[in-house]
Amino acid sequence: MKYNIAVVGATGMVGRKFLQVLEERNLPADRYYLFASARSAGKEIDFMGKKYDVLELTEECFKGKDIHIALFSAGGGTSLHFAPIAAAAGAVVIDNSSAWRMDPEVPLIVPEVNPQDIKMYKNKGIIANPNCSTIQAVVALKPLHDLYKIKRIVYSTYQSVSGAGMKGFTDLERGIRGEPPEKFPWPIFGNCLPHIDVFLENGYTREESKMIEETRKIMGDYSLRITATAVRVPVFYGHSESINVEFAKDFDLAELKAALEKAPGVIVVDDPKNNRYPMPIDAQDKDEVFVGRIRRDESVASGVNLWVVADNIRKGAATNAVQIAQELIRQWEA
Ligand code: A2P
Repeated sequence: MKYNIAVVGATGMVGRKFLQVLEERNLPADRYYLFASARSAGKEIDFMGKKYDVLELTEECFKGKDIHIALFSAGGGTSLHFAPIAAAAGAVVIDNSSAWRMDPEVPLIVPEVNPQDIKMYKNKGIIANPNCSTIQAVVALKPLHDLYKIKRIVYSTYQSVSGAGMKGFTDLERGIRGEPPEKFPWPIFGNCLPHIDVFLENGYTREESKMIEETRKIMGDYSLRITATAVRVPVFYGHSESINVEFAKDFDLAELKAALEKAPGVIVVDDPKNNRYPMPIDAQDKDEVFVGRIRRDESVASGVNLWVVADNIRKGAATNAVQIAQELIRQWEA
């Protein structure tokens, strides 16, 4: 069976990466449709060795096209409005925005962690792709939760500007040229902003709140105690995270490292004697999650510190969404 696949937001930062990852992974596709806003309608994009016209996203655009899978990355408002329309026309939407993630009827999927939850898509025809920082964290944490039962997590993130889309990226370029920012409230070049997404009543940012809630939903464990500080740093691609974890059970450090080395989608880079540890410049353009600086937290009975780095546009967004599509097709055909 061959599938018709749509990409919504095909001209954006993540949308373009969707196209690249789709080319690399060569899904069993018959036809592709590329959608964006009216601003981009008529533009041509080179894809799969052909020129594709960008089509305007409208309420009618899914009709009569027999689209099986629609990958969305065009902002929360667009997803909120158009995902149900695409689903009603028969597509399964894989949505990269935060609009549907916490809906109890929508599965929130990281294929290495909870592929069994995909079948919940049947409720609304929507599968949510998690927040970029959450994806890379849970890929590393899942094997440890299975072995030692996590009690508490402290996340501190160092997130690149590409996580804020094209406009975030150009703000760092503008800063390097000495121009003022347009996307961020303060300069990002030569600076760090402890402010990603909007501030909430409790003093956390929405990004921090997403990491807390999404981790619990993906791991299927609402008893997890989690806190987070999310920081934007002047890096173009790749999010880094310091993750402090406290376990219910004792662990052996060598066994923990071995479990991470075997974990799907994880590459351990942990050789301090030779100054080897994960860095965003090495994670760029890779699909794996890199883990290093693995060391016991000596301040608690059973705890560990990890440094976790991944390409936020790949594993944190496009790759994870395309992997969901691949897993969905695998489950359809099983
Ligand atoms: P366009 O390029 O036509 O504005 P980014 O996150 O990099 O800023 O990209 C956002 C993506 O979402 C772009 O492809 C953008 O298309 C698309 N987009 C934004 N608003 C809409 C909308 N109302 N309808 C369809 N696509 C949209």
